Amino acid sequence: MHVCALADLPRGTARRLPTTPPVSVFHTADGGLYAVDDTCTHQDASLADGWVEDCWVECPLHAAVFDLRTGESDGLLARRPLRTHTVHVVDGAVHVELSVGALAP
Ligand code: FES
Repeated sequence: MHVCALADLPRGTARRLPTTPPVSVFHTADGGLYAVDDTCTHQDASLADGWVEDCWVECPLHAAVFDLRTGESDGLLARRPLRTHTVHVVDGAVHVELSVGALAP
């Protein structure tokens, strides 16, 4: 699915997509692009509102940390991983290929 122009997703920002469940695309400070399910697997918080450092996002509610590359959590509060999705940039536009994998139980 088309997300936006890469120029409209500056480094250090994230964009939540109107999917079900919501997915967020992160453009990290070093230029990486990652897409993961947006809802923290601990409780109901949007990771697009979290803090990103390197390839990690910290949940804004209780500070669980997830690896944007793999979806794995730090295993403390959020014991289940996030689904990851594939990001492509084509002709200056960001696209996400949504995972068809099941949601974490
Ligand atoms: S809701 Fe994310 S750590 Fe609690």
